[in-house]
Amino acid sequence: MAPLAPLLSLLLALGASAAPSLLITPSAPARGLAPCLSGAYHGQYGGQHVFLPSDDCIGASAGLLSAGSIVPTVADEVVVWVGRAGVQGAEKLTPDALFAHIDAGARRFLPSLLDDGAQKVFAAPAGAALSLLHASEDALFISVPRAALPVLDTLLPPTYVPVGVAPSPVPLWDVPEHYAKHLANVTHHLRFRPEIAAVVNTIDADDIRRDVRWLTGEAPSGIVSRHSFTEGARVAAKWIKEKVEATGADCEYFPYLEGFSPDVLCTYPSDSTERVILSGHYDSRGSFGSTRAPGADDDGSGTSHVLAVAAGIAAHNITFDKRVTLAFFSGEEQGLWGSHYWAKHLAAENATVVLQIQADMLAYRVPGEPLQLGLPATIELPEAGWLVANVSALYAPELVVGRTEACCSDHQSFISYGFPATQVFERNGWIADPMYHNSGDLADREGYDFDQIASIAKVTFATVLEVAGFKTK
Ligand SMILES: *[C@@H]1O[C@H](CO)[C@@H](O)[C@H](O)[C@H]1NC(C)=O
Ligand SMILES: *[C@@H]1O[C@H](CO)[C@@H](O)[C@H](O)[C@H]1NC(C)=O
Ligand SMILES: *[C@@H]1O[C@H](CO)[C@@H](O)[C@H](O)[C@H]1NC(C)=O
Ligand SMILES: *[C@@H]1O[C@H](CO)[C@@H](O)[C@H](O)[C@H]1NC(C)=O
Ligand SMILES: [Zn+2]
Repeated sequence: MAPLAPLLSLLLALGASAAPSLLITPSAPARGLAPCLSGAYHGQYGGQHVFLPSDDCIGASAGLLSAGSIVPTVADEVVVWVGRAGVQGAEKLTPDALFAHIDAGARRFLPSLLDDGAQKVFAAPAGAALSLLHASEDALFISVPRAALPVLDTLLPPTYVPVGVAPSPVPLWDVPEHYAKHLANVTHHLRFRPEIAAVVNTIDADDIRRDVRWLTGEAPSGIVSRHSFTEGARVAAKWIKEKVEATGADCEYFPYLEGFSPDVLCTYPSDSTERVILSGHYDSRGSFGSTRAPGADDDGSGTSHVLAVAAGIAAHNITFDKRVTLAFFSGEEQGLWGSHYWAKHLAAENATVVLQIQADMLAYRVPGEPLQLGLPATIELPEAGWLVANVSALYAPELVVGRTEACCSDHQSFISYGFPATQVFERNGWIADPMYHNSGDLADREGYDFDQIASIAKVTFATVLEVAGFKTK
């Protein structure tokens, strides 16, 4: 990490720029920070704290920071952190390797893949088209022209995961304590309730199989890809919306960035202002350079698991005390954009979100391993993960619960904006699915396990019932 002072003087010598600067610090700055700096916080990425302060603010705050680096950002572009997915032995993250991959991909595939805007961007070498803002161990930040966002994921090797830096400031301090206390209290009073078991035990793996196969195009839906910019994504969004509406929810599209297929947000009627959110991402990512992206595991499994919960809500005529939203995000593969913008919207509304659970990749089981439920090793509110683990022991004892290095799904957007969140995943330990971010991510293959998706659905459904409160008619 470069010392702050020389970089600061360099920056000041260069003169003020219109775009904010990117300030990255390895540790949370002390309280008593200049207000301008706490208002310029954009969250934590790979263990680094990120600020986008104005030059005036940097000048006023430099004395408060002991280490860090400052680089100018590029006007009208977005800042993206490129993380390493939780895959064992994943290639080390270096700017040279990243840009070499992008260049190789662009040379081979661009003419067939892209619209004019993105073609123009990648006519230049990647190192010029996407400026490198900062590189250190596990923290690589690049600046991406908006026209390049649609294809960023397709040009990255599968083990590189782009995560957009939150598009507006987020709270500097952690998820507020009252949220953690509330969930700890729910866990403390948790006991087996036959009425919850009766509801969640009707989750049906065959329904999930039918829905996954429709989303992948293995059943005749006509879907080739659900990449956020494809027609397939829009077809899937419309299908999801109509399906969940039929279960008694009010569904809406939530558009956020031009070109991206919208989020689908489905909320069950309630007079409460307290929200509980269960989500998956319906967009998908295929192999480098291929237009086929079936995404059966990533994240057809999470999407179909939310659909199974919706079906269960209707089958048992459930009404919730709190406001329950089933959310289907897009733009996950390009950097969690769909969830970022909705979490931003909720924060601007001062919404109360008592729990958000993201389901991403639930199906793959290494042959011979037991059924599993993986909770995040790093990005989550611990009290949220403990609750889910305890619920799992009560309603899905067949699952072996543990922790996973799988990194970076939509729950991170909620954590960034100060909401309590966690993720459910298919495995304890590393990502093991050989078809991860691959055009061969189909449902009909060895290791793809519908029973594991159904078991995890029992857990998330029971958690939502417990936290939201419910009645059956
Ligand atoms: C904790 O949960 C119990 C049981 O649900 C409830 O009666 C009590 O009011 C809760 N306490 C707090 C401090 O929220
Ligand atoms: C749900 O409600 C519908 C209509 O009110 C009724 O026909 C059905 O039997 C109910 N189902 C259950 C499981 O109570
Ligand atoms: C949200 O809370 C802030 C700070 O308390 C307040 O200034 C703002 O008006 C509130 N916004 C809404 C939409 O209620
Ligand atoms: C259950 O919750 C408690 C906190 O109340 C936590 O310490 C424990 O680890 C949880 N169980 C599991 C299996 O995570
Ligand atoms: Zn995913």
